[in-house]
Amino acid sequence: MFFITVLATALLSIAGLVIASPLDTRQTATITPPAQYYLRTKVVNGAHKDTGSNKTNLYVYSYHTGAGLGDAALSSNSSRAWIGYLNGTQQLMTYAGNKVGPWPLSVFDVPYQEWNQVTISVASTPDYNPGFFFNSSGLQYNGSTGGWLACDWWHGVPQLFQVNGYLNNGFGLLKYNAKDRIAFRVEIIKLFVEDDIFLSIFCLLQVFAQRHWTRPSDDLMLRALQTKAHLSSARTTGINITNFAIRQTRAKSSKMDSSLHPLTGLYKPNNLKALYYGPNVVKDHLLSALPTETSKAFIITGSSLATKTPLIKTIEELLTSKHHAGTFSNIKQHAPVAQLDEATEIVKKDDTIDTIISVGGGSPIDSAKAITYRVNEAAGKWLLHITIPTTLSAAECTAGAGFTQSDGVKTGIAHPNVYPQYIFYDPKFGAYTPPHLFLSTGFRALDHAVEAQYHPTTTWIPCRLVALNAISELFKLLPKYKANPKDEDTITGLFLAAYATLAYFGLNVKGGLGLSHQLGYALGSPYGIPHGITSCLTLGHVAKLKARQSSDNAENVAAILPYIGGKRSGDDVADADAVGDKILGLVEELGLKTTLTEKGVGKDQLDVICARATGGLTPQKENSQQEEETLKAVRGLVEKLW
Ligand SMILES: *[C@@H]1O[C@H](CO)[C@@H](O)[C@H](O)[C@H]1NC(C)=O
Ligand SMILES: *[C@@H]1O[C@H](CO)[C@@H](O)[C@H](O)[C@H]1NC(C)=O
Ligand SMILES: *[C@@H]1O[C@H](CO)[C@@H](O)[C@H](O)[C@H]1NC(C)=O
Ligand SMILES: *[C@@H]1O[C@H](CO)[C@@H](O)[C@H](O)[C@H]1NC(C)=O
Ligand SMILES: *[C@@H]1O[C@H](CO)[C@@H](O)[C@H](O)[C@H]1NC(C)=O
Ligand SMILES: *[C@@H]1O[C@H](CO)[C@@H](O)[C@H](O)[C@H]1NC(C)=O
Repeated sequence: MFFITVLATALLSIAGLVIASPLDTRQTATITPPAQYYLRTKVVNGAHKDTGSNKTNLYVYSYHTGAGLGDAALSSNSSRAWIGYLNGTQQLMTYAGNKVGPWPLSVFDVPYQEWNQVTISVASTPDYNPGFFFNSSGLQYNGSTGGWLACDWWHGVPQLFQVNGYLNNGFGLLKYNAKDRIAFRVEIIKLFVEDDIFLSIFCLLQVFAQRHWTRPSDDLMLRALQTKAHLSSARTTGINITNFAIRQTRAKSSKMDSSLHPLTGLYKPNNLKALYYGPNVVKDHLLSALPTETSKAFIITGSSLATKTPLIKTIEELLTSKHHAGTFSNIKQHAPVAQLDEATEIVKKDDTIDTIISVGGGSPIDSAKAITYRVNEAAGKWLLHITIPTTLSAAECTAGAGFTQSDGVKTGIAHPNVYPQYIFYDPKFGAYTPPHLFLSTGFRALDHAVEAQYHPTTTWIPCRLVALNAISELFKLLPKYKANPKDEDTITGLFLAAYATLAYFGLNVKGGLGLSHQLGYALGSPYGIPHGITSCLTLGHVAKLKARQSSDNAENVAAILPYIGGKRSGDDVADADAVGDKILGLVEELGLKTTLTEKGVGKDQLDVICARATGGLTPQKENSQQEEETLKAVRGLVEKLW
């Protein structure tokens, strides 16, 4: 219905005003568009080879990317189309029945960048980004002489971009003549400007698809990802862009929200084949976990385990030269990338290796996952991952691995096949861990279990209910461990509790945990603070903050109280505060209380920490009201940590 109305308006108004554009130096005539219209793409160069999706006849809509955020995306489904109209030189977008919009189509001009992100964000202020007009080639943006670009990108749907004008106007570093410009853009499918008759009910976004479409270089795609997906270069280095795109699509299709009312969710078990626990399980059962009679295993561990304990020697002797291919014992805290590269090279060179054994805390375990992943990329084979954890970080419970870039920020990989298939919780190994480290990683485990309670995709059973009991175990066993760090049953009990905090997230839970983990990443590797300690700093405060964000969160945090010896009062926020206080109390009881001042972090880092923890929100930026509130709450929390 709406389309027909617009058609009538459009035909009338096309015959309307034709004036000289004040914006265009080349004197093209502008056209007054219909009062309302849909923006539809047109491939102007006819038949073309395109290894991506067809870019003809797609409609512009806002693809939701987060609270108040949306990217301009393209769909062949006309019911998805957003309605456009021009207000002055601003391109506004809305939809039928919209009571709060419209919102601007915004081009994020970045000098020296080849193409720009285009957004339709509820968070944008209405007066943002003027400079749009129509001529007979369709919608134009003054900042561009390069035109529009349609490209399959990280959302798994075609997205709209804008080719930066600096290439054309000579004020940038690069000066291409017309021919070179075309050559320069051979890699990209784009919306292109060309003479055409402006006659349809739709305002055109002319798409020029190259005759021979070739995939942009990984380097170009990575740079674009950094600027357009709001990812810092640190978070994209090391990412294989091909796999990344595939992963984004898959993650979307397998993710499902869970809820208590109605009771719904999805649990996808991970690839664990066996979990052994108790004294001497390594000695008694490690060899039986090797896949074949002739298997060769490579050991990944940290230097203090290798040099200050007899443990690695024990394993090497157990494997004998028949099964032991080598040991890499140079993995440091937060797994720096240079060491990963070194270890990966060694494993790649020896094609008899079919197994990787990680021994230690989160860093060796994550490193083994990252090496497994990289070896598969290079050699097309998956190593069997066996792990012998010596801390309570529970890194053995996920299929993802964080590691640290040279600039100190963490990045990561994820794949179901990097998940350790055999876990050995042996207190003979745990007994060598310095008690202070063992205790603080216990808080990391507690952090997992608490944040599981308000994570949007964790299941009620097994994940959350098991995690609630794990919280109870941790509160009971951590003080017991502090009193006697040599008691084997306590050590084994804590290993199992740590396992229970994270193991039942399942493979479908993607992305980060909650705010306490986000803050942990923001504080951990950049300032050299171990993750157990970051959890000691943040978790109690985050529990209280979360409870103030929604009544669901309050209920979920309050539900922890009976598991840690408290009684429900009927007031969820008050109960959540009691949970937060009990966590902070346990930190103090175990002698782990600290501050950012003690850790040598300057107060000038406040904004940086908040921006990292919130995914880029800063006080200087225009934020939506909801984002403003998040930022304010997080700042309030972080300020307390000094
Ligand atoms: C429409 O405007 C663009 C951008 O200024 C220009 O490149 C193009 O040639 C114009 N089209 C016509 C038919 O004038
Ligand atoms: C793309 O889709 C249009 C119809 O929307 C069709 O006419 C055209 O042939 C398709 N192009 C290619 C390259 O498949
Ligand atoms: C088109 O989009 C509408 C609204 O989002 C949706 O209900 C419908 O299923 C879609 N149709 C197709 C064929 O995908
Ligand atoms: C058009 O822009 C003016 C000035 O920025 C603004 O006051 C007005 O509300 C806008 N109209 C619509 C319909 O968005
Ligand atoms: C585009 O137009 C707007 C509004 O007239 C102006 O502020 C802006 O500087 C222009 N940008 C370029 C690159 O010409
Ligand atoms: C990235 O992954 C793809 C597909 O798995 C593979 O073909 C390609 O060689 C990898 N690229 C790099 C640079 O490792």
